[in-house]
Amino acid sequence: MSNNTISSSAYSVMLIAITVAAIISLFLVPSSAKLSSTSSFSSLEEVKALLNSGWWGNFSSTNHSNLTGIACNLTGITCNGAGSVIQMDTRHYHSFGKLGDMNWSSLPNLEYIDVSYSDLRGGIPGEICTLSKLTHLDLSFNYNLGGVLPPTLGNLTQLVHLNMSGTNINGPIPPSVGNLGALTHLYLSSNKLSGTIPLEIGNLKSLVEMDMSSNILNGSIPSSIGNLGALTYLSLRSNQLRDCIPPEIGNLKSLVEMKMSSNILSGSIPPSIGHLSNLTILYLYLNQLSGYIPPKIRNLKSLVEIDISSNILNGSIPSSIGNLSALTYLSLRSNKLSGCIPPEIGNLKNLVEMDMRSTSLMVQSLHLLAIYLV
Ligand SMILES: *[C@@H]1O[C@H](CO)[C@@H](O)[C@H](O)[C@H]1NC(C)=O
Ligand SMILES: *[C@@H]1O[C@H](CO)[C@@H](O)[C@H](O)[C@H]1NC(C)=O
Ligand SMILES: *[C@@H]1O[C@H](CO)[C@@H](O)[C@H](O)[C@H]1NC(C)=O
Ligand SMILES: *[C@@H]1O[C@H](CO)[C@@H](O)[C@H](O)[C@H]1NC(C)=O
Ligand SMILES: *[C@@H]1O[C@H](CO)[C@@H](O)[C@H](O)[C@H]1NC(C)=O
Ligand SMILES: *[C@@H]1O[C@H](CO)[C@@H](O)[C@H](O)[C@H]1NC(C)=O
Ligand SMILES: *[C@@H]1O[C@H](CO)[C@@H](O)[C@H](O)[C@H]1NC(C)=O
Ligand SMILES: *[C@@H]1O[C@H](CO)[C@@H](O)[C@H](O)[C@H]1NC(C)=O
Ligand SMILES: *[C@@H]1O[C@H](CO)[C@@H](O)[C@H](O)[C@H]1NC(C)=O
Ligand SMILES: *[C@@H]1O[C@H](CO)[C@@H](O)[C@H](O)[C@H]1NC(C)=O
Ligand SMILES: *[C@@H]1O[C@H](CO)[C@@H](O)[C@H](O)[C@H]1NC(C)=O
Repeated sequence: MSNNTISSSAYSVMLIAITVAAIISLFLVPSSAKLSSTSSFSSLEEVKALLNSGWWGNFSSTNHSNLTGIACNLTGITCNGAGSVIQMDTRHYHSFGKLGDMNWSSLPNLEYIDVSYSDLRGGIPGEICTLSKLTHLDLSFNYNLGGVLPPTLGNLTQLVHLNMSGTNINGPIPPSVGNLGALTHLYLSSNKLSGTIPLEIGNLKSLVEMDMSSNILNGSIPSSIGNLGALTYLSLRSNQLRDCIPPEIGNLKSLVEMKMSSNILSGSIPPSIGHLSNLTILYLYLNQLSGYIPPKIRNLKSLVEIDISSNILNGSIPSSIGNLSALTYLSLRSNKLSGCIPPEIGNLKNLVEMDMRSTSLMVQSLHLLAIYLV
């Protein structure tokens, strides 16, 4: 236990004081007013949970006549009209404690938790998954948190926003994550999550942004990912994902950024990628993708950056690449491409950087290229 914890004797004194106050108010307050008043007795368990966590330091030296008032006044705590805790927003509030020091089951009305950047340690207690009203859970960038995602994560069915990036969690993504049907934002990046991406991820139809980058996820990308029609941001980069990019990826018509670089993906780039007309960023570099660059890439009219370097793509560069008029960055370096650089590349008036090194392209076309670009 932290040495910030209220000493039990001092705490008992406070409890007695508050209980007396509560009993007195029972007699003084007309019964009809009881529910709407911020009466301290309604949330004694909550007060106890907050103050005993030690996150807000030492309370034993003060004489508190209004504990609920104290609790609802704590940095980052918001109560509803009945004095019950509904929000905990202690972003950047360095508590140096453990998530498990809080008695979460005593705070059943919590809807919003943001304890990011708070140097919390000691893993994620399963009790947090009993908070059935939770819509927002952000534990991100508590770099020493560690532990695993509780298997009961899927009980948080009201969850809209889940951010566990940079928490050093390990182990698998529990399949119960597929129960989080209201989820719009899922961030699990920069951790040590392993195993496969569960098929159930395809149930998250409301998902708008998903970031699972920089983990050690393996296996293949489930084709159910094609069900996530509302997705605008998808990053699976820097994992150990293998096999083909599922052609169903072409169903993600709202996608704006797709990052799958630094994996072990193989097979060809699915031509269905040509359906992603809102795509602005496409990173597929550092994989083992082979075959041709699909000519349908010409349909990606919004594309601003494309990096498909460090693969084993062969064949020639499709001349239709010259139709990607918004392109500012193009990297095809370190592939097995052959033939000429198509003169149509000269149409890319917004191009700022182009990297074609280490391909088998004919040298004389590079001279042509210089002419077309100037
Ligand atoms: C908490 O308060 C008590 C009483 O004033 C004091 O003896 C104790 O040292 C304090 N603990 C910390 C960690 O400040
Ligand atoms: C504690 O607060 C109560 C109520 O405000 C007051 O009557 C009492 O004198 C206080 N005791 C101390 C030691 O300050
Ligand atoms: C809560 O904070 C307000 C404003 O700072 C203050 O007036 C009030 O006395 C505080 N309540 C308690 C119980 O500390
Ligand atoms: C307790 O403090 C809260 C917040 O400051 C206030 O709204 C409430 O009226 C206070 N209750 C009593 C009984 O003083
Ligand atoms: C947490 O609170 C619940 C009820 O609110 C209680 O039953 C339980 O004993 C508490 N747990 C701890 C470890 O204090
Ligand atoms: C949480 O979900 C599990 C199954 O995933 C279920 O058995 C359990 O009853 C649920 N708990 C609560 C508190 O809803
Ligand atoms: C959630 O995590 C991502 C990293 O994956 C971070 O960039 C972002 O700021 C976080 N979002 C919020 C709303 O906290
Ligand atoms: C995938 O990761 C799991 C968990 O780390 C491991 O047990 C399994 O061997 C890995 N599979 C492959 C093909 O690397
Ligand atoms: C593509 O982007 C435009 C402009 O932001 C938007 O109106 C349109 O709905 C998007 N298309 C899809 C399929 O999301
Ligand atoms: C390109 O690579 C594929 C296998 O990945 C091979 O079947 C095909 O013949 C190659 N084409 C050329 C032109 O080298
Ligand atoms: C692609 O660009 C060429 C000129 O380089 C043009 O003739 C053609 O119509 C363009 N295609 C589309 C689909 O815009």
